[in-house]
Amino acid sequence: MKHLLKLLDLTGDEITELLNLADQLKYELKHGIPHPHLAGKTLGMLFTKASTRTRVSFEVGMVQLGGYPLILSGNDLQIGRGEPVQDTARVLSRYIDGLMIRTFSQQDPEDLAKYGSIPIINGLTDMYHPCQVLADLMTIREYKGKLEGLKLCYIGDGNNMANSLTVGGLKTGMAVSIAAPKGYGPAKEVLDFAAGYPGKFNLTDDIFTAAKDADVVVTDVWASMGQEQEIIQRQKDFAGYQVNTKLMSHAKADAIVLHCLPAHREEEITTEIFEAHAAEIFDEAENRLHAQKAVLVKLMKG
Ligand code: CP
Ligand code: NVA
Repeated sequence: MKHLLKLLDLTGDEITELLNLADQLKYELKHGIPHPHLAGKTLGMLFTKASTRTRVSFEVGMVQLGGYPLILSGNDLQIGRGEPVQDTARVLSRYIDGLMIRTFSQQDPEDLAKYGSIPIINGLTDMYHPCQVLADLMTIREYKGKLEGLKLCYIGDGNNMANSLTVGGLKTGMAVSIAAPKGYGPAKEVLDFAAGYPGKFNLTDDIFTAAKDADVVVTDVWASMGQEQEIIQRQKDFAGYQVNTKLMSHAKADAIVLHCLPAHREEEITTEIFEAHAAEIFDEAENRLHAQKAVLVKLMKG
């Protein structure tokens, strides 16, 4: 494993190894055991979209690993004025030991990996959010003790979260059921991958079919970053695609609820369900830190 561009590039065993390492790093942090695996290493973090969790958890994670985090805003770099990704990749490779990027096009992290010579980590693109889904899988394992054999249901937009959850869920032995309005399903690349898991993947526009007997219920915003101008249309198209008490009555009684955050209460999730499952949701947010530290160690430790 040289980069984390998308979960499609990892085997199920590689994902499990990362989750095991994340558990260990979490244990060490909680017990005050130092783990300076990246002493002397620098991670660049390039953002062309907003972020709270990704930014803070990567920055704090690097410090806890003994390394140095360097925040780079797309607007301040020459890349914001059109310097090619190919050149940016080769220049940054001369200064830093790894680069996390959050941006729009999946092609950007792919090109940085192709032209640079340092590990590239996808901190969210329009297509995928692998760091978030590693944290989600870690959280599910904490609550359920396993992943294999569980049913994960995702309600809402077939966006970067739906794409990465489908791949991560199927690769780790879960059944994945997605409920999205017609025309809003996951990406073709993801559906093609899921076709290799007959009986384990289901795409429907019926939220109750998707939620039936689910162990894990996940949702995300109706309009992702960059889609703000579509919100009026999306509020119409997604009406009813909500995680609420009625939806949860179709899932298993002990089902957990996850949300990558930020959440839009009374759109994709009711305040009632959000607050009833706040323990899981904020454990999930915390686990970004531990899961990403595992990724950093795996990719950047000498
Ligand atoms: N879930 C997530 O990636 O949050 P941020 O956008 O705050 O980084
Ligand atoms: N789907 C959301 C996730 C935010 C963490 C977005 O891309 O805006």
